[in-house]
Amino acid sequence: MIAEVKSTGHSWDGIEEYDNPLPRWWLWTFYATIVWALGYVIAYPAIPLIRDNTSGLLGTTQREVVAQEIRQFDEANAPIETQLVAANLSDIPSSPDLLNYANNAGASIFRTYCAQCHGAGAAGNPGYPNLLDNDWLWGGTIEDIHLTLLHGIRSPEDADTRYSEMPKFGVDGILDDAQIQQVTQHVLALGNLPHDEAQAAEGATVFQDNCSACHMEDGTGDRSQGAPNLTDAVWLYNKDGQPDEATIHRIIHDGPFGVMPAWSDRLSEAEIRAVATYVHGLGGGE
Ligand code: HEC
Ligand code: HEC
Repeated sequence: MIAEVKSTGHSWDGIEEYDNPLPRWWLWTFYATIVWALGYVIAYPAIPLIRDNTSGLLGTTQREVVAQEIRQFDEANAPIETQLVAANLSDIPSSPDLLNYANNAGASIFRTYCAQCHGAGAAGNPGYPNLLDNDWLWGGTIEDIHLTLLHGIRSPEDADTRYSEMPKFGVDGILDDAQIQQVTQHVLALGNLPHDEAQAAEGATVFQDNCSACHMEDGTGDRSQGAPNLTDAVWLYNKDGQPDEATIHRIIHDGPFGVMPAWSDRLSEAEIRAVATYVHGLGGGE
């Protein structure tokens, strides 16, 4: 049988090359791919040019496909978004449809806009509060959260932003080093953390004179000024959840100035309500 196949006439050291044709099915598939490729190049965007690309007879663009899909979603969501915006904020959690929509939309807004500061699971980072617990700087009702999102905290772009400013006690020379050392020990004592008794006792006076207007005499804080409770186990400026003496000292010396952006010009009212509902539902909502 081998003898029936023609030889190409090439022979090396007595080894001959047979002239076997390509299988037909293979060859036709190959031609078909060429025809397909030509058709594709003519019909669809294919060849890169300097600034743009050939647009193809069908005029398809992936951007348009995505835009179309987004329009479809927007249209489908429009009725429920209208309801969400019309509802009383505090009624949203008790309406299953609104709650379900707000939680889904809110979770994806959170991943896009909030996670980089507050952490993907909303557990926070030093200086960026944990949103899972029921410890709130400015308030944890859905209305409070909505207001925080709308205008931000110390947000320079928003005239109605939530605002307060803890003085820079060291930098501005309001307290001397010894006093800062003493009041640092007093703050540690308020938090039930290891501290120096004698210094903390001196620090109590410094605290009453300089800190109680915002953090209250007993150190439990004041939400109307966003001043944290210093007596609980939750610390905004912490290292691995625990405050260390150096951090507390630095905060008192330099003054903290946490900024949370205002979202009213970046997110729609429906989006702000959705993410406020989502955050409220994370576990600490009041
Ligand atoms: C650029 C960083 C940053 C981004 C982005 C950000 N936040 Fe914040 N957020 C902060 C900081 C800082 C604070 C605390 C401000 C302070 O010290 O009072 C805060 C505070 C808050 C508070 C108040 C917490 C309380 O205890 O009262 C809420 C609620 C909140 N953020 C929700 C969000 C949501 C929802 C988003 C996304 C839409 C978001 N944040 C995006 C930085 C950010
Ligand atoms: C004008 C109000 C105001 C005064 C006065 C003030 N604070 Fe504060 N303090 C704040 C605010 C507001 C924050 C949170 C600020 C932020 O996140 O940017 C804060 C944060 C802190 C923190 C960080 C708490 C945490 O959870 O990590 C400590 C510690 C602290 N203050 C101690 C003091 C001490 C000590 C004094 C007095 C020497 C003082 N503060 C005076 C408003 C004040």
